[in-house]
Amino acid sequence: MTGNNNKSSSKRSNKDTMIVLGIETSCDETAASLVRSDGTILSNIISSQFDTHRPYGGVVPELAARSHVENIDTIVAKAMTAGNIKYSELKAIASTGGPGLIGGVIVGATFGKALALANNLPFLAINHLEGHALTPRLTHKVQFPYLLLLVSGGHCQLLTVKGVGNYDLLGSTIDDAVGEAFDKTAKLLGLGFPGGPALEKAALDGDKYKFNFPKPLAGRTGCDFSFSGLKTAVRYTVDSFKSITEKDQADLAASFQETVVSILKDRCANAISMFQEKNGKNKVLVVAGGVAANTQIRNGLNTLAYDHDMDFVAPPMNLCTDNAAMIAWAGVEKLKLGYRTDLDFVPRPRWPLSEL
Ligand code: KG4
Ligand code: ZN
Repeated sequence: MTGNNNKSSSKRSNKDTMIVLGIETSCDETAASLVRSDGTILSNIISSQFDTHRPYGGVVPELAARSHVENIDTIVAKAMTAGNIKYSELKAIASTGGPGLIGGVIVGATFGKALALANNLPFLAINHLEGHALTPRLTHKVQFPYLLLLVSGGHCQLLTVKGVGNYDLLGSTIDDAVGEAFDKTAKLLGLGFPGGPALEKAALDGDKYKFNFPKPLAGRTGCDFSFSGLKTAVRYTVDSFKSITEKDQADLAASFQETVVSILKDRCANAISMFQEKNGKNKVLVVAGGVAANTQIRNGLNTLAYDHDMDFVAPPMNLCTDNAAMIAWAGVEKLKLGYRTDLDFVPRPRWPLSEL
């Protein structure tokens, strides 16, 4: 569990600032956070369930939901205490309303609704992807429109973010999400769980040019992605070894990661052309979502943006992977625009950004 308390002594000095409590439970993190409308994170509590899921090599939805039920009240209480805030000082409660593992989403959304009702506060159901998408406005005050590469365990998309709730999809994966490709490849290489960070760590000691893996769709027009062929190529290579040494693991991990970086750069280059045609140069390329915590990916995209006269923004690592500060912040953005969610909102396992 990590507690990040960015408390500011002037937190009550400006009467116009609003504070929103965010709750995130869509996967294997139970998280709660208080964020102020000027972008100050008053508290950011995350309880990860890695130990619960590690024996199974992946997230078990039923166990995740149970764990959220057991932890949610403690985590929310910790966020309120760490931020030194009373419910009467809040302006709204924002919970992830989907997409995600539905058992967990139900826990967070129901808890948020109950808190809102009991404290006579507005409730906001936040799209988890929108939470990731708006994070660079919390951390770097990025102005609309910006080009977003959203890379997580369940999604891989390129979008023009035109405003809150206003997204143009430029391309998405036609098979696996990039985080899924990291997780499955890590499992294949015996690197443990969670796969993405484990693979990145193993790759540090590897030769990234040792294996020449395919780059599906690279060089083609458009901005769609494909990763399943890459994952299969790694499997065939692993199968061709009699036994796999630590050095092989590291070389395979490094070569896989390098291939992913190269695919992402290729697809983003096309997206940049499309984006700049409509919006001009000197705008911002943003990467968000759990996979954006990967240093090689961040470095590769930084170079690409520089080469195309764009600024590059990646939120700090702890705000790339799932957290509730992004949910609270999306709540702030929506509240400012007058949004409210009815308490009969039904949590959604699937909820594409294009439906906002
Ligand atoms: O956004 P996120 O925390 O949860 C979802 O909304 O899916 O993303 C989780 C994904 C997982 O697939 C995880 O392996 C991947 O992000 N990930 C990484 C790294 N850290 C997390 N992938 C590559 N390198 C990392 N350092
Ligand atoms: Zn996420």
